[in-house]
Amino acid sequence: MAKEYPLENLNIPQHVAIILDGNGRWAKKRMLPRNMGHVQGAKTVEQICEDAHDLGVKYLTVYAFSTENWSRPPKEVAAIMKLLRNYLKDCIKRANNHDMRVRVIGERGRLDEDIWQKIEELEKSTCENTGLNFTIGINYGSRDEMLRAMRKMGEDIKLGACEVEDIDEKLYESYLDTAGIPDPDLLIRTSGEQRLSNYLLWQLAYTEFYFTDVLWPDFNKDELYQAILQYNKRQRRFGGLMEEPKV
Ligand code: FPP
Repeated sequence: MAKEYPLENLNIPQHVAIILDGNGRWAKKRMLPRNMGHVQGAKTVEQICEDAHDLGVKYLTVYAFSTENWSRPPKEVAAIMKLLRNYLKDCIKRANNHDMRVRVIGERGRLDEDIWQKIEELEKSTCENTGLNFTIGINYGSRDEMLRAMRKMGEDIKLGACEVEDIDEKLYESYLDTAGIPDPDLLIRTSGEQRLSNYLLWQLAYTEFYFTDVLWPDFNKDELYQAILQYNKRQRRFGGLMEEPKV
């Protein structure tokens, strides 16, 4: 019998962002090549999209490949790119079957042409889907995203499309890769590491963090539910006070 995940009285985070970490250690523990950890990690990504949707999450954003990951051995980079290529190819059918909208954040210029073409095809073919909003970071780095946003805004100012005085949070956000996506409510990082690694630095300003020792390939619906239970114990104040101050 399928395990029950009671949702009554729970505040389900609208947007969950995940730093999926620990693929390499998962493989090492099993004396497998690192790439097998990534293969299993990709399967976990597919499953967690369904689980997140089942639990009522509306937006899920995962960090698949960072601007810093290019410094890994070329063989590993090539294996990850192959995996992403296959994933993107199969994803169109699966996303449409699950009514899932897929977007990719990150700088596309450094990716092979066939990869960014697949990304464009996938985004276009799923843009009207109304189920889970799934976003994948590929060659994504938050500082790079912010610099690209600033350059583009500078270009628009030069062209007269906007003025320096118009710059506010809303305008700036419209230049980020995540434009149109609400900020994450909950950030999960697996494998025991507790850092942000250049992930969504602007967008995580008021996000609750949840760290778990579980290695990404072992992450599952139970773990996601645990993270949501923890999230429900937090008091989000957004810089304000919980109660009216007694003056
Ligand atoms: C994290 O584990 C994994 C990565 C940075 C590599 C890429 C992720 C995948 C292949 C998952 C697939 C994603 C999609 C969207 C299909 P690590 O290698 O840093 O692990 P370690 O810290 O244990 O070495």
